Amino acid sequence: MELHLKDKVAVVTGASKGIGLAVVEAMAREGVRVVAGSRGSTPELDALRDTHDVTVVAVDLAAPEGAETLVRQAVERHQRLDILVNNVGAAAHRAGFLQVSDAEWQRILDLTFFSAVRASRAALPHLVSAGEAAIVNISSINARLPFPMVVDYSAAKAALTNLSKSLSEEFAPQGVRVNAISPGPVRTPMWTAPGGFADATAADAGITAQEALDVAVPRNMGISSGRITEPHEIADLTLFLASPLAANITGADIIVDGGQVKTL
Ligand SMILES: NC(=O)c1ccc[n+]([C@@H]2O[C@H](COP(=O)([O-])OP(=O)(O)OC[C@H]3O[C@@H](n4cnc5c(N)ncnc54)[C@H](OP(=O)(O)O)[C@@H]3O)[C@@H](O)[C@H]2O)c1
Repeated sequence: MELHLKDKVAVVTGASKGIGLAVVEAMAREGVRVVAGSRGSTPELDALRDTHDVTVVAVDLAAPEGAETLVRQAVERHQRLDILVNNVGAAAHRAGFLQVSDAEWQRILDLTFFSAVRASRAALPHLVSAGEAAIVNISSINARLPFPMVVDYSAAKAALTNLSKSLSEEFAPQGVRVNAISPGPVRTPMWTAPGGFADATAADAGITAQEALDVAVPRNMGISSGRITEPHEIADLTLFLASPLAANITGADIIVDGGQVKTL
């Protein structure tokens, strides 16, 4: 399928690993000029930088000025901006609501919600100037299926999905489409890194992290397809939503969860 994305300019937040890295990789393959923001880099992102038009920007997107810095560097380099992917976000395993401090709430909200507010505010004037542009927000099924063990993250994702709809309403007449993707569990470092959610599930069940991801998580979470999602599956949908093939799709929130959410 020809996505007609060649030479478009995109900013991707949280780009060094996981879903963000998969989005950068898929975009680079399509000839998109990508500006990738995260605190550090990885060998995989460096390899894309060395072989494609990918610029790596070291930036802390939890800091108030982080998102604006990233967008400014993209526009300085390419003199335009067509696509913003608000991907960065973080969750922490909580013992319960009463154990989450103000500072912990603030950290999760800064990275998962305010990073998207700030990146969108910095990017929208440029996206409007582009004439036809798109924002894709990587939300979560936790926006509609809040889990107590990620109470702050669930609330932050609900806010992000809500923001996505508001922005779609305001900016559709100016040519900017805004859509959200709500994944269920995806095989990324959020799950697979030491101390990540796979380790936590494995410790609770007395199994390996691999068994947790391949068997326990799909079964315990009621994932009808029997498996979690792979990062490239989120990336493929992100590219489609950012492309002119989705020219009349805005304000949508698309669940990618193997059937975990049982309601309409
Ligand atoms: N994995 C899942 O199961 C799942 C499910 C639903 C939704 N999501 C959402 O999908 C998005 C991506 O998740 P993921 O699983 O791919 O995450 P991940 O594997 O933890 O990767 C997070 C990315 O964000 C970057 N990052 C973290 N803190 C940052 C900061 N302060 N400033 C700049 N960059 C930062 C990391 O790079 P550095 O460490 O180098 O900064 C990394 O590139 C998140 O919004 C997440 O909530 C994930």
